[in-house]
Amino acid sequence: MPSSAERVHIPVLLQEVLHFLQPKSGGVYVDGTLGLAGHSEAILQASSPDGRLIAFDWDDRAIALAEQSLHKYAGRYQIIRRNFAEIPESLKEQEIGNVDGLLLDVGLSSLQLDMGGRGFSFLQDEPLDMRMDTRREISAKDLLANCSEEELADILYYYGEEKQARKIAAAIVERRKKERITTSKQLSNIVVKAIPRRFHPKKIHVATKTFQGLRIAVNTELENLSVLLEGVTAHLKPGARLCVITFHSLEDRIVKNKFRQHSQLEVVTSKPVVASEEEIRINPRSRSAKLRVATRRV
Ligand SMILES: C[S@@+](CC[C@H](N)C(=O)[O-])C[C@H]1O[C@@H](n2cnc3c(N)ncnc32)[C@H](O)[C@@H]1O
Repeated sequence: MPSSAERVHIPVLLQEVLHFLQPKSGGVYVDGTLGLAGHSEAILQASSPDGRLIAFDWDDRAIALAEQSLHKYAGRYQIIRRNFAEIPESLKEQEIGNVDGLLLDVGLSSLQLDMGGRGFSFLQDEPLDMRMDTRREISAKDLLANCSEEELADILYYYGEEKQARKIAAAIVERRKKERITTSKQLSNIVVKAIPRRFHPKKIHVATKTFQGLRIAVNTELENLSVLLEGVTAHLKPGARLCVITFHSLEDRIVKNKFRQHSQLEVVTSKPVVASEEEIRINPRSRSAKLRVATRRV
């Protein structure tokens, strides 16, 4: 069981999400990224006494902890362990009908980062897994073992936005001829050595972007977001709100473009909503959060 410290969790942009989502009693809401249930709990509270919540997450550890926070709302919520890209199918299968609002708060939860064990962080020495959903077949070490040098360079360049991608990919391929790369420490050491000191970034660890790129590839994160945003609008009631929080520019660009391109969506936030200085002070993770909101046309 995780310690209480691991359970401390501050949902980002919470007041802003509630402001735009406007949960009401009698409404049906979807949280596509349950995590530790910070937003879900607030939605259930704000939609008392009769609002319903369908929450998705593909990480069984997150679901187990979320259930502890939500049990007091028993009967009003349902948790589904599934990729949020499959929300449209799920809503159809469960005959839920169109919903009044949907929230996505994508990326990793503080649990996945802090509790560790899956190699998300280069600061710890852990098996290089990086699957948020342990039922997925391909882990980070599988990618490192099996991708060609070119594929690895593309993952690091496009998903990690790492300018030194080619150098790092070459170093990975060179190293794997000698030994299997299976731990986060091995990988971060390879990156540290591959990039000349003078190119090490000042504000972030030199391996940050490599880890980001691999994580996005392992979990097909950009594809999931695109697929969901393509398919979900048809499951929103007219006037329903779609709120999406992202943490890096690749995801934000997808949300911005999908909102603009979709004929049934009207953009509510012309610019992304960001955290106040006060929120950033209390929760530094909120610094890079961007919230975009659209509404289903009437
Ligand atoms: C940033 S956390 C959400 C935190 C949550 N809003 C809260 O207040 O506790 C993101 C969660 O989404 C989950 N997740 C990410 N991508 C997913 C996907 N494609 N399908 C289902 N869950 C996903 C992760 O497992 C993680 O638990």
